[in-house]
Amino acid sequence: MNRLDLLYNHRYLKYNDCIAVLPILTGAQNPVLRSKTKPIEKVTKEIKKLLKDMEETAKSAEGVGIAAPQVGRSERVCLAMINGRSAPLINPEITWKSEETDVQQEGCLSLPGIWLLVPRATAIAVRYLDEKGQLQERMLKDWDARVTQHEVDHLDGILIVDYQPEEHQTDRETAQPAL
Ligand code: NI
Repeated sequence: MNRLDLLYNHRYLKYNDCIAVLPILTGAQNPVLRSKTKPIEKVTKEIKKLLKDMEETAKSAEGVGIAAPQVGRSERVCLAMINGRSAPLINPEITWKSEETDVQQEGCLSLPGIWLLVPRATAIAVRYLDEKGQLQERMLKDWDARVTQHEVDHLDGILIVDYQPEEHQTDRETAQPAL
């Protein structure tokens, strides 16, 4: 093994040591998934590490977003795929929602095998802290807005099953299909 190999292996091991794929909690009745999260006071090293682990966890599960309760944590942090990039959202709050909504199918890493039609605002404004602790506010639309609403719901203990009508009134006519 030459010096470069050693260097490479060292980095590789270090990378693996640092980032962990976390177990994902599942089930519509799971008490952690049903709890409202608490805003964090400061973006600490520990929060950054949590976000890295969550990103790796979402990636390995082929998810486009993930929220802290899904990995058993109570901090108000999530990741949402925005513009094709996984964006960490710390203490996110949706400050505005368009009146216009649409209905699309959504899945959730915590409800494996379930795909449901969920109505969402087509545009939102979201305020949050980025990884540097800087306050950001952005306007999002379409899929970016949908993913973000799904993840912020998780931080309030809300799951996609909550948007379904009661079983006895399940009638697709009340939910407008997307296509
Ligand atoms: Ni989800």
